[in-house]
Amino acid sequence: MQKPNERLTNQTSIVTGASSGIGTAVAKALAREGSNVIINYHNNKIGAEEVAHAITQDSKNAGVRIKQADVSDEASVKELFKFGKTEFGTIDICVSNSGIQKDAPLHDMTISQWNQVIGVNLTGQFLCAREALKEFMANGVQEKISSSAGKIIHMSSVHEVIPWSNHANYAAAKGGIVMLMQSICQGYAKYKIRCNSIAPGATKTAINKDVWNNEQSYNDLLRLIPYNRMAEPEDIGAVASWLASDESEYINGTTIFVDGGMTCYPGFTTNG
Ligand code: BGC
Repeated sequence: MQKPNERLTNQTSIVTGASSGIGTAVAKALAREGSNVIINYHNNKIGAEEVAHAITQDSKNAGVRIKQADVSDEASVKELFKFGKTEFGTIDICVSNSGIQKDAPLHDMTISQWNQVIGVNLTGQFLCAREALKEFMANGVQEKISSSAGKIIHMSSVHEVIPWSNHANYAAAKGGIVMLMQSICQGYAKYKIRCNSIAPGATKTAINKDVWNNEQSYNDLLRLIPYNRMAEPEDIGAVASWLASDESEYINGTTIFVDGGMTCYPGFTTNG
């Protein structure tokens, strides 16, 4: 069993969308456990550099690089993995975290809003998983490093089970991740590759700033969370580093909800 703070030593992680929010917290948490990290970003190079700098200060044993890539683009994702392998030799952990929202009532949703969200939030997760699988299969289990040949973590959402009118593109992508993740588990567990999802609830990041920045909508949101607070990105980072470690070795093909109870539908507490 690996020691705390060394649970991911000698491993390398790619974290997509790591220049802000949940991705940043995940990258920091993995590095704190000794993993090298590739901080992938799309537009926010300055954000990625800041995260890399913070990791260098905080986690002396972890190597860190930044790499631009559009996860919805096949060539770009291949380039991202090639970069990771060139820099650190191989990839052991893939956290597909990039996600966007382009919200609209369905009858007004443009094909561009639909395609962009499916492209980043679902196709992006397929493209990253595909590259990760090839690498993990080629490596096999290296007992000194980890009891698994590799770990894939999909960043899903409570909206893989909670329908979301006015955000149907987002909910459809997250619902799709369930079957992608479970199909990977079903087919690749025999190679000792683990594939799971984390489903955050309402987490304080830029994606939902409009909601938590306004008192009325923030209070409305809290009514949906039995635990009565939003998640901090670090709540998700802590789960990701554990899920990537051998401590969770027998967890495969499942979604871990990190949502303060949101999926317990608190609206039914005194109703229904
Ligand atoms: C969305 C957030 C939302 C949360 C709960 C997340 O997946 O990105 O905007 O607050 O789900 O509804």
